[in-house]
Amino acid sequence: MESHDLSAIWQENAEDWLAWARTPGHDVAFWEMNLPAMLDVMPSPGIGTVDIGCGEGRVGRVLAQRGHRVHGLDSSETLADAARTAGGYEEVVHGDATELPWPPEMFDLAVAFMCLMDMPDPARAIREIARALVPGGRLCVLLTHPLDRPARSVEDYFAETEWDERVQENGLPMRFVGRARPLGYYTGALSDAGFVIEEIREPRPGVELIGRFPQLDPAATRPWTLLIRARLD
Ligand SMILES: C[S@@+](CC[C@H](N)C(=O)[O-])C[C@H]1O[C@@H](n2cnc3c(N)ncnc32)[C@H](O)[C@@H]1O
Repeated sequence: MESHDLSAIWQENAEDWLAWARTPGHDVAFWEMNLPAMLDVMPSPGIGTVDIGCGEGRVGRVLAQRGHRVHGLDSSETLADAARTAGGYEEVVHGDATELPWPPEMFDLAVAFMCLMDMPDPARAIREIARALVPGGRLCVLLTHPLDRPARSVEDYFAETEWDERVQENGLPMRFVGRARPLGYYTGALSDAGFVIEEIREPRPGVELIGRFPQLDPAATRPWTLLIRARLD
């Protein structure tokens, strides 16, 4: 298996991601399906929320509008700078999810939105998140679904495989590089870090949504993403 430095590739592609995430009307799966699914399971604002792999900051800005005091972290300097400049966050740190710069028990909510599969060592990041949460704190995770392996071998579901896809949609180019891991990788990492899983959902577009956004139709029969909410014991 060819293996890239996954996190470094996000910095290389940061300008393309900025355009992808910020072009109005472009990332329909995010705004119409995945973000609403996440908001549906998210607890109310509490002592503090941390947005892991915050990218250019669209998740944190929405959470701030809903009353969360959000701290963000991303390993891409360009994206962390963009999130900080756009506002909404208490602070945005350029850093790695496996070494969070905050003291223990600083937050009661952590969000890892579409980023753990983009990291070399998500189990270590999950342990760090547990350290930064108070007991009873929640972690909300959205991932590429472990079964969503377009253009990749599905011969061995349990093997870690890397994807490296260049796409062009609405004239916007993007390179997505990440690692497919089986569901048990994530449930095991959560359990090992002291979390109890409260919810597992597979966001799926309904008929009305597909009517407005036909490009979401494939996700009605084959899940694109997986949502997990877990509580630190
Ligand atoms: C698909 S983007 C998602 C960004 C944001 N959560 C959103 O939904 O708009 C994945 C993000 O994970 C970040 N990332 C990758 N590896 C990371 C790591 N080891 N630590 C922190 N962030 C990382 C990337 O830089 C990128 O911004």
